[in-house]
Amino acid sequence: MSSFFFNFFIFFLGIIELGNAKFHFKEQKKYPTVYVDPSGHGKFATIQSAIDSIPQNNQYWICIIIKPGQYREQVKIPREKPYIYLKGDKNGEVIVTWDAHGSIDTDATFTTEANNTIVESITFINSYNYPPKRNKHPRVVAVAAMISGDKCVFFKCKFLGFQDTLWDVQGRHYFKICTIEGAVDFIFGNGKSIYEVKLSNLSITVSFVQINLTVIIQLITFEKNQLKT
Ligand SMILES: *[C@@H]1O[C@H](CO)[C@@H](O)[C@H](O)[C@H]1NC(C)=O
Ligand SMILES: *[C@@H]1O[C@H](CO)[C@@H](O)[C@H](O)[C@H]1NC(C)=O
Ligand SMILES: *[C@@H]1O[C@H](CO)[C@@H](O)[C@H](O)[C@H]1NC(C)=O
Repeated sequence: MSSFFFNFFIFFLGIIELGNAKFHFKEQKKYPTVYVDPSGHGKFATIQSAIDSIPQNNQYWICIIIKPGQYREQVKIPREKPYIYLKGDKNGEVIVTWDAHGSIDTDATFTTEANNTIVESITFINSYNYPPKRNKHPRVVAVAAMISGDKCVFFKCKFLGFQDTLWDVQGRHYFKICTIEGAVDFIFGNGKSIYEVKLSNLSITVSFVQINLTVIIQLITFEKNQLKT
């Protein structure tokens, strides 16, 4: 477990007021952890069933470690479940994929409405128009992630889609070493977020017109001519 990063997240969350979390650095090894493993070695076979097991209005950090693999499910952390730390097991990629489309309100492969969410090392895909090569579907709205809780941190995550990939609805969010892929309005919303990310374009018509974020973009890798703003 990368306690360094956890401390880092806590430091970040501390900066933006951690609120009433009764979490202490020295107790970090004691936070409860549950495991998601479809092969039956964990208590939960799906990510959503692990989230569902967490009590409402939870006041302590709880970690959900997810075994590498592809999870075909829509995952939602509801408003009343703060302090969830979703973590992909470091021995391989954790991919969460779904293909709902046509409505930003219900499409998202991953949604968090909860304050204080941390997500590490997980790839979220809306596969309806992704990958775009050989994709025969009409190009429509198809959200990969929708973030509306306050104080949410994403570390080493990927958000992959084509149109409206990442809906940064509202709140203060930090995206560190993430990849966000899309081609049409692919980051949009009203969040007040910091992005230290790799932006990846799928076509030369990358559009940022819908962006309304207070953003500091520190591009780690950046292709020339990518942004046509
Ligand atoms: C989440 O945080 C916001 C802003 O800090 C606050 O207004 C809201 O009440 C919080 N939501 C919950 C469910 O505690
Ligand atoms: C991104 O756009 C550039 C042109 O601006 C293009 O050369 C490159 O192939 C694109 N990348 C992808 C992954 O499509
Ligand atoms: C963008 O943000 C400004 C300031 O917060 C707000 O007044 C405006 O309505 C927002 N625009 C959209 C399209 O949400």
